[in-house]
Amino acid sequence: MKNIITVDGPSGSGKGTVCQKLAEKLGWELLDSGALYRVLGLAVKRHDIAIEAHEKIASFARKMDVKFVWSASNCEVEPILEGENLAPFIRTDEAGQLASQVAAIPSVREALLERQRSFYQEPGLIADGRDMGTIVFPEAPVKIFLTASAECRAERRYKQLKSKGVSANMRALLDSIKARDERDQTRPVAPLVPAEGAFFVDSSDLTIDEVLSQVLEFASKSLSELPLD
Ligand code: DC
Repeated sequence: MKNIITVDGPSGSGKGTVCQKLAEKLGWELLDSGALYRVLGLAVKRHDIAIEAHEKIASFARKMDVKFVWSASNCEVEPILEGENLAPFIRTDEAGQLASQVAAIPSVREALLERQRSFYQEPGLIADGRDMGTIVFPEAPVKIFLTASAECRAERRYKQLKSKGVSANMRALLDSIKARDERDQTRPVAPLVPAEGAFFVDSSDLTIDEVLSQVLEFASKSLSELPLD
């Protein structure tokens, strides 16, 4: 059995932080599949490929020259696309919207499947995304569905942008989050749905540490050697 914990849920649910902390705590590899779709969305725009050109995007995705490199100075994994560090751009709302559009194309999802699976490494993998437990790693012994109300997610995003000195509008953020939820949940291929047997965590009123301890307690029932302190 492979040690895999999948964490699926909408953006702003706290998945990114929770997954990063889980990977650090366990010393496991981290797959941030959203970052992969974000990089692809930005690359498609930079290469002037039309969003309607599905097969062109899928074939680009199959060959895309991207590496994810740990940056000790910034304490994060940075995406290097064709030699350029895209870290400053991938968390923008534009990248999120582009990601959501390319991610809705079935042949694109298919093109990225093996690349995502190849992130697995001993002793284990934390997989962060929308379809990690349903499509990419259906065999994972531990599946989490992490969510939070749309209002709460918009507020978190608002604070995050403000703290970076980026101007933000709460109403526009909430509308953007709802639009993305709608597209991610209703697309015909790999929609955002909880995997069978997934453990639900609503992070609206929880701290990151509280979410972590709930996830680790659940995971330790299937994976005996996990630390629980
Ligand atoms: O998790 P995120 O916000 O970085 O994801 C960006 C977009 O990519 C999101 O709108 C949905 C899409 N996505 C996806 O369809 N499947 C995944 N496994 C991860 C992300």
